[in-house]
Amino acid sequence: MDSQVSFCSTSTAFCFVFFSFTLLFSLFSLLVFVLRSKLWCNCETCQAYLTSSWIREFDNLCDWYTHLLKKSTTGTIHIHVIGNIITANPVNVEHVLKNRFENYPKGKPFSNLLGDLLGRGIFNVDGDSWKFQRKMASLELGGVSVRAHAFDIVKSEIQSRLLPLLSSVAGKEQVLDLQDVFRRFSFDNICKFSFGLDPGCLKLSLPASEFAEAFDLASKFSAQRGQAYSPLLWKVKRLLNLGTEKQLKEAIKVLDEFAQEMIDQRRKEGFSGRNDLLSRFMSTIHDDKYLRDIVISFLLAGRDTVASGLTSFFWLLTQHPEVESAIRDELERVVGSSDEQFASFNQMREMHYLHAALYESLRLFPPVQFDSKFAQEDDILPDGTFLRKGTRVTYHPYAMGRMEQVWGSDCLEFKPERWLKNEKYIPQDLYKFPVFQAGKRVCLGKEIAVVEMKCVVLAVIKRFKIQVPGLNQAPRFVPGLTATLRGGLPVLFQEREA
Ligand code: HEM
Repeated sequence: MDSQVSFCSTSTAFCFVFFSFTLLFSLFSLLVFVLRSKLWCNCETCQAYLTSSWIREFDNLCDWYTHLLKKSTTGTIHIHVIGNIITANPVNVEHVLKNRFENYPKGKPFSNLLGDLLGRGIFNVDGDSWKFQRKMASLELGGVSVRAHAFDIVKSEIQSRLLPLLSSVAGKEQVLDLQDVFRRFSFDNICKFSFGLDPGCLKLSLPASEFAEAFDLASKFSAQRGQAYSPLLWKVKRLLNLGTEKQLKEAIKVLDEFAQEMIDQRRKEGFSGRNDLLSRFMSTIHDDKYLRDIVISFLLAGRDTVASGLTSFFWLLTQHPEVESAIRDELERVVGSSDEQFASFNQMREMHYLHAALYESLRLFPPVQFDSKFAQEDDILPDGTFLRKGTRVTYHPYAMGRMEQVWGSDCLEFKPERWLKNEKYIPQDLYKFPVFQAGKRVCLGKEIAVVEMKCVVLAVIKRFKIQVPGLNQAPRFVPGLTATLRGGLPVLFQEREA
């Protein structure tokens, strides 16, 4: 009995000490957060941020930041209350992404946001783990066979799903949300490419897919963590398994089960003769959780980005029929007026105007509108801005596309010609167009994505006329990891006469 009483009192004392320690630690963390975050800044920008008064004039945060960056003499601004330095200055971008790359990792704050969804996948790690995956993925994605495989997947999805779907609504006054269509299209493609699995999202009935829905929810709720005023808020919600954190957990469980099923199936059936990324990685990596993380990162990287790029490009084409008709002329010049549905790789390489038009669209509407790193040590950017260790620095492709200092006085115009000289495509400085990032972490799927988007544009405009019914408003975006149009892109299709 005595020993029971003494055990109870020992355990009560232990609980008390543990609880006190946790409380003290939380209070200390909160104090450090408050001291570091400069929550009391009274400058005009921080007040507008804190009171959200910018909403009166601008549709979204990106447009407000663009406005501030345009006014800044250095092309850099500082939102003190959230410790974020934002730059649209190409020299700073080169400094962060290339010259002082080692000092600007993605950092813990970012990897915490996406950690539950992406785990240790390439998108979410720094240092040796990143180097290992980058090397392995570059070897896989750099090969001719994998690109040819990606090209085959895309052609088949266009031929067997996209064109029949558009044809089924053509001439019927039936409005189709093109953004939704492209999200389904790119999800089918990236799943086939990454997992060797066809979710069939773009079938004629436009079916719901549990996996696609879980993936959407998981990306959305992970992105929402980044909008919380303090990371403590979502961390407490996660600890207590409440609200969106509970939904995020459930969505991730669906993804985990699905990935595990795929891995088990591959292991049973054998993966040596298969082309998908999962099978390719399975021969070098034997840890199932790591495999899952790597492949889920690819899904995130390659799905919404391509859909977003296509949606904006088609919106621009509906506003600029002269560009659409120049692309059709080029197609006819290079491929001839044969019935061949697809241009070959080499033929596409000859289409300089198409390439220029696509890059011009990405310049104005980058799928990843901004991206952040965290300074590991104090630093001074080339424009003189001082950065304290731990500060978040954001480069902003969306704002950069709208800066006269970067693209000249006609920067707001959609002008493919700015990329051409004597009808040949001329590459621009990578750091004034970091749409695929640039430097050591440049996008690994760039070539695949560009070919995918070109294939869709050529196949669709060759056969259909596209029209946006109702008012043609400028695109308005919802907050998230990738640029997404509020309300989608409703369009009408009509078959062209043969
Ligand atoms: C228009 C389409 C695309 C755009 C605009 C785009 C843009 C980007 C950007 C901005 C990053 C840097 C992200 C960051 O570090 O936070 C990135 C990284 C990456 N992208 Fe893409 N991407 C596209 C399509 C794709 C596709 C189709 C794939 C896969 C097949 C892919 C694979 C990757 C991978 C693996 C990384 C990580 C590279 C690293 O961290 O070293 N991307 N992409």
